[in-house]
Amino acid sequence: MLVAGRPMRSLWPAPARDALHVIDQRRLPHELVAARLTGVAEAARAIREMWVRGAPLIGATAAYGLALQCRVDAGDAALQRAAAELGATRPTAVNLQWALGRMLARLLPLAPLARAEAAWVEADAIADADVAANAAIGRHGLAWLRTLRPRDGRRLNLLTHCNAGWLATVDWGTALAPVYAAQAAGLEVHVWVDETRPRNQGASLSAWELAQQRVPHTLVADNAGGHLMQRGRVDAVIVGCDRVAANGDVCNKIGTYLKALAARANGVPFMVAMPLSTLDLGLPDGAAVPIEERSAREVTHVHGRGPDGAVVEVQIAPDGCAAANPAFDVTPAALVDGLITERGIVAADGAALRRLGQSA
Ligand code: MRU
Repeated sequence: MLVAGRPMRSLWPAPARDALHVIDQRRLPHELVAARLTGVAEAARAIREMWVRGAPLIGATAAYGLALQCRVDAGDAALQRAAAELGATRPTAVNLQWALGRMLARLLPLAPLARAEAAWVEADAIADADVAANAAIGRHGLAWLRTLRPRDGRRLNLLTHCNAGWLATVDWGTALAPVYAAQAAGLEVHVWVDETRPRNQGASLSAWELAQQRVPHTLVADNAGGHLMQRGRVDAVIVGCDRVAANGDVCNKIGTYLKALAARANGVPFMVAMPLSTLDLGLPDGAAVPIEERSAREVTHVHGRGPDGAVVEVQIAPDGCAAANPAFDVTPAALVDGLITERGIVAADGAALRRLGQSA
């Protein structure tokens, strides 16, 4: 996407193929800073500590992490160890395992000396395929948006949760790709952006990237969505996903399920943008998705920029307060009105997903 008028992806390999550059997303929206990752341990740390985040982006980062490993030792044992280290960073988004599996399947049959070159080519292919898939999701999503009639008679009001924009992918985004496609096509849209406590990906990332692209948007507290839908101020909800099970159950950022319930209760379409890399046909339903349990400190404390410009952490709960922090939830397939994929829009049901998986 364009940042200050210049095209930018969320990651880019160094021309010498000795490092991977990523945007350090912990610093947004206050600063746009790149980090240089030179080895598998740094790539794993960037994923674990959420310098990079979002299902497709952590998959692509892990792929480049294996390419970095090949520069040092491309033997079977070293590659397997590196894949295990990267794979253990975050449990929920299936794209991580998908990308690592694809890299190992490409590299292990090769002679170790041929692996370094092949690894960069494969990681580039994963990154480029992500961009192409998201662009296609944008086109299919736009065609669907064109079928909606704005309830306010003026512009389409969409609600999104977390960040499933270009920062969560290599480029374009998943849930926000149709928004960017709509803007490019001259279709008027406005986005309600859920703040997405506790990590605030909506406030710090979605609001930032929508502003960069000059898409009209309004930040709302997580609890505002139901009210907005009840008052007819939301035409559709569009979210991304971290893992979709074989029956169409959708795992996404915590709070997504409540939005889906409110959408169904108010007759608002609830759509999920899903690249095929996020489909896990090996999982029968959402009950078995491993849900990441994150630090209680993310709930008891918040980060923000103080009046002097410095980013500080402040405590918002009593000393010693117990807190729980499940990072994802599962929206049952029955609440999902459609999955926007790079192959078109499909129903969130087992038969449709099996057909899609077979054609992939
Ligand atoms: O914890 P995060 O920030 O990695 O969670 C990200 C999300 O839940 C996104 O909505 C999801 O990965 C879809 S990204 C296109």
